Amino acid sequence: MSGSASGIGEAVRQRLEKSGLRVVGVDLHDADVIADLSTAEGRQLAVETTTDLAGGRLDGLVACAGLGPHVTPFEKIVRVNYFGCLAYLDGLLPALAQGEAPAAVAISSNGATLTPKNQTLVEVLLAGDEEPACTVAASLDGATVYGMSKLAMTRALRRRSQVWADAGVRLNAVAPGPVDTPLLRDSLEDKILGPLVEALPVPMGRRAAPAEIAGAVGFLLDPVNSFVHGSVLFVDGGSDALIRPDIF
Ligand SMILES: NC(=O)c1ccc[n+]([C@@H]2O[C@H](COP(=O)([O-])OP(=O)(O)OC[C@H]3O[C@@H](n4cnc5c(N)ncnc54)[C@H](O)[C@@H]3O)[C@@H](O)[C@H]2O)c1
Repeated sequence: MSGSASGIGEAVRQRLEKSGLRVVGVDLHDADVIADLSTAEGRQLAVETTTDLAGGRLDGLVACAGLGPHVTPFEKIVRVNYFGCLAYLDGLLPALAQGEAPAAVAISSNGATLTPKNQTLVEVLLAGDEEPACTVAASLDGATVYGMSKLAMTRALRRRSQVWADAGVRLNAVAPGPVDTPLLRDSLEDKILGPLVEALPVPMGRRAAPAEIAGAVGFLLDPVNSFVHGSVLFVDGGSDALIRPDIF
């Protein structure tokens, strides 16, 4: 799994290890594999080392590493949240295909649906053009770049539903709302983003604990849920339902 050193990823790692599973964590620090998913070399290192450490066979994969909307330069957000995430998933598909009842989960965000759309960035991302996407990202604001990186990544997952099913691997996404992690705390400290995050209406009236997102990830990885594929599970205290009740 990626992003295992902090926040949601740390909670996922703890949950999986508690249930007796062996986890190969990828992160910038405090992980089995130290690799930077913002670069082509880092992505290759993450995929190759994870494959080696897992003996060429994975039963599950969680793509959790991500950067928040406060991170500059904004191109870094698309490099990690879109290109890094997909390279990690695609690169490990062969190892997953060797696993037992394999499943993968990527962490999206309800920002994918609640941020105003920038179609240009979404289209350039889905075309797979990293450098042009970075140029477009540099002309936008952090909230838009973050939301569109997650929207495009989630669409890219849904577009893989046939290929991954053919490989025998389930692929789903979790779309969290605000979760109490270092990423959210840094966003809250930003003068522009902080008030936007605070203004998001959450029917349940609170933020999630990382363990609550890990629970949803555990559900999607669990072989018992063997027909759940190509889905996006909102774990956002009801915000998406409140704001877009009829977009379904
Ligand atoms: N916290 C929230 O409110 C929230 C809401 C919706 C979605 N998310 C998503 O959940 C995921 C986890 O976020 P979090 O809140 O736990 O954040 P976090 O900052 O606590 O953890 C993110 C982890 O990703 C790692 N990471 C960042 N860049 C990397 C890179 N280039 N290569 C490898 N690892 C890298 C970090 O080192 C860190 O350990 C992210 O994809 C984020 O976008 C978070």
